[in-house]
Amino acid sequence: MTEAANRKPIKKAVFPVAGLGTRFLPATKAIPKEMLPIIDRPLIQYAVDEAREAGIEQLIFVTGRGKSALVEHFDMAFELEKTMADRHKSLEVLEPTRIQPGNLVAVRQQVPMGLGHAIWCARAIVGDEPFAIFLPDELMIAHQGGGGCMKQMVEAYNAHGGNVISVLEVPEAEVSSYGVIAPGAQVSAQVTEVAGLVEKPRREEAPSNLIISGRYILQPEVMRVLEGQAAGAGGEIQLTDAMARMIGQQPFHAVTFNGRRFDCGSKTGFVEATLALALERDDMADEVRAMAKRLLAQG
Ligand code: G1P
Repeated sequence: MTEAANRKPIKKAVFPVAGLGTRFLPATKAIPKEMLPIIDRPLIQYAVDEAREAGIEQLIFVTGRGKSALVEHFDMAFELEKTMADRHKSLEVLEPTRIQPGNLVAVRQQVPMGLGHAIWCARAIVGDEPFAIFLPDELMIAHQGGGGCMKQMVEAYNAHGGNVISVLEVPEAEVSSYGVIAPGAQVSAQVTEVAGLVEKPRREEAPSNLIISGRYILQPEVMRVLEGQAAGAGGEIQLTDAMARMIGQQPFHAVTFNGRRFDCGSKTGFVEATLALALERDDMADEVRAMAKRLLAQG
C-alpha cells in the first residue's frame, strides 16, 4: 500500500468551548458564547456543520461550568419534537442538531490554562488518532458550491499527511493577536510548508502576516508534547508552542482557505457575519438590503 492509502482518516474533532466569553458580557453571563446566533444558528452549529461536511463523526467538546447548553443543543429534545409533530410542524430545521448517540463526548477543562491545555484535556478520547480542532469563534464560510475550510484541509491532509493548519493574511498591525507562521516552500496555490510558528509575536518580530485561523489537523503526538509543557504567551499553555516543537519531526503544512472568514470573537466581526449572511439568504436578503440602505442613508 502507498503511504497515502495508509493514512488514518480524520474522524474526531475537538471543540475547545470552555471559555468564559467575557467580551460579550452581559449576553454570555448565563449562556455560552458559542450559543450566540448568527441569524438563527448558534456559532457552534456552523463549526459542527463544517466538521460533518469534512467527514468527521465524533465531536469532543472541551467544556466547563455553565456550558451545558452546548451539549443540550445536540441532544434529542423529545418534548419539543413530540409537540412539533403533534402540530404537524416540520422537524427538518432540527436536522443539523442530530448527532448519533455516542458521537458527542464532553470533557471538562477545570482550570483556564489556555488552548493547549484545553486540547490536552481531550487526550483520552482522542487516543492514538490524528484529529481536527475547531475554534468556533472563527466562522469559516465556503463560497457558493465550494467545500468548507476543514474539507479543504482534509484534502491537503490526504495529499501530504502529518499536520495541517489553516492560515490567512491579516494587516500587520493585527498579527500580535494571533499565532503566526513562518512560511516555507510553496507546495501549491493553496498549500505551503510551515517552517516556524510563534504565538502572539510583537509586530516587529512576526515572521509573516499569515495567522493561524482556528482550524487544525494534528497528529496524536501533540498530546505528549503538551504534557508537561511550560506556559507561553499570556502565561497560558499554548497549542502553537507544542506545534512548533513538532516541525521537522512530521510534515507540517498550511492551507489558505478558499472562502470567507469572520472573526466572531469580536463584536464588529459578529455584526459583519450577521449582515453578510443575511444578505445571502433568499428568505430575507431583499428586506435586509432595503433596511441597510435606509439605515445608512440616515447616517
Ligand atoms: C487562538 C490561538 C491562535 C490563533 C487564534 C485564532 O488564540 O492561540 O494561535 O491564531 O486562536 O483565532 P486566542 O484567540 O485564543 O487568543
